[in-house]
Amino acid sequence: MAERRRTDMVLIAFMQAQNCTNYPGSWRHPQGIPDFLSAEHYMRIARTLEEGKFHLAFFDDRLAMPDIFGEDHRLAVQWGIRSVKMDPIPLMTAMGLATTRLGIGGTCTTTYFEPFDVARTFMTLDHMIGGRAAWNVVTSMNDSEARNMGVAEHPDHDLRYDRADEFVEIVLGHWQSWEDDALVVDTRPGGVFAQPDKVHRLDYRGRWYNSRGPFTVPRSKQGQPVIIQAGQSGRGIRFAARWGELVFASYKTLPQARALYRTLKDAVAAEGRNPDLVRIAPPVYPIVGETRAIAEEKRAFADSLARPEDALALLGEVLNIDFAKYGLDDPIGEAVLANMTGQHAIRDRVVQVSGKANPTPRDFIDVSRRGTIHEAPVFCGTPADVADQMEEWYQGEGCDGFVVAATHRPGGYEEFARLVVPELQRRGVFQKEYRGRTLRENLGLPPSVARGRPTMRH
Ligand SMILES: Cc1cc2nc3c(=O)[nH]c(=O)nc-3n(C[C@H](O)[C@H](O)[C@H](O)COP(=O)(O)O)c2cc1C
Repeated sequence: MAERRRTDMVLIAFMQAQNCTNYPGSWRHPQGIPDFLSAEHYMRIARTLEEGKFHLAFFDDRLAMPDIFGEDHRLAVQWGIRSVKMDPIPLMTAMGLATTRLGIGGTCTTTYFEPFDVARTFMTLDHMIGGRAAWNVVTSMNDSEARNMGVAEHPDHDLRYDRADEFVEIVLGHWQSWEDDALVVDTRPGGVFAQPDKVHRLDYRGRWYNSRGPFTVPRSKQGQPVIIQAGQSGRGIRFAARWGELVFASYKTLPQARALYRTLKDAVAAEGRNPDLVRIAPPVYPIVGETRAIAEEKRAFADSLARPEDALALLGEVLNIDFAKYGLDDPIGEAVLANMTGQHAIRDRVVQVSGKANPTPRDFIDVSRRGTIHEAPVFCGTPADVADQMEEWYQGEGCDGFVVAATHRPGGYEEFARLVVPELQRRGVFQKEYRGRTLRENLGLPPSVARGRPTMRH
């Protein structure tokens, strides 16, 4: 069978509402612009991304500093290890108002908020930015987040996803409870504002959540925000397959990418959904230079900005265990591994790659490479080299697009948009123009139709 060339690569910029990019050492980069507490910082990046025809700028989120290591926040504060974490919503609004086509996505956890609240915030944002919003549904990671939100302990991994299923049912239920033509706003004498028969009460009663309605925000230009998900464990994949319209999946090599891509697409099909409509994108760090030597030098420089503290602080954060309790070469016991309530995907990969049932903290550092740019694949070289690597993953069915992380900010995005995007466009794999105005149109997703029932099937 002739190989069909794929042409609609999805590009997403990995954004952080904090003092650094994904790369904690990035704030030390001399080309970084330290105005990260200003709206202009994010608006400038938004304009760059829109010029580069990115589909989406996406913010992750945490509800705590990485303070699990040694049960102390001093390390994170001293070395700027993601020690600032702002609410992404105002930043997303600013970026949305600085652009007209770029999608704007952000993370909000199902574990520490109420579904009605999240439904209202994201639908309101979607109106404010003309139907370009996306919600990344996560279940959070650790006890520090729990304590900031008044909860003693972070709930168990799979239980969080069970609760999240109900949470998303409620959010979508509310989003779909105003029929598309409910709003009338007939200002003539006696004219009605909206049709009462077309605004439904959800009356949801679940095991963990109840929400009555009626919802207080009508449908948006794209119907409702796009759903992003990134579950990668057994339970997480089922959740991603049920709800995700855009799925982020972390992997380091193309063979790993192909395997997880297939697993995720099969899981989507098993949910009765069309796998072609669910785009899968891994985070990557592109480092581009005018020549290979320049790019290599940039990579070496970026690498030199990492500090050993970064890895331990961020591993503790994501796995919800205090690595300060262990020597670097102490095996971690079965009970501790089994009870890790953070992300299971990293734990499982460390066990698999190290080949040890009881890996040590050093194994976690070496396999995950957390806190460095090598946590994700690094695509380094000339614009053609970077595009070659991206094309290999994309055409090789390792992904449908990429979540582009920056070694420094705003320069990392600017160099990518200026040098790599034109190369991808020249090759015909990436869009030269936006397809439409809303994020759904730009992602080629079918219009979302209000059915008055919580469902995402398409
Ligand atoms: C690109 C990307 C972004 C993510 N953003 C967040 C985030 O902002 N907050 C969060 O708690 N988890 C985030 N995660 C973690 C995922 O939601 C998920 O927990 C993780 O991939 C592990 O899968 P599991 O939950 O099935 O173990 C992200 C993952 C990826 C790959």
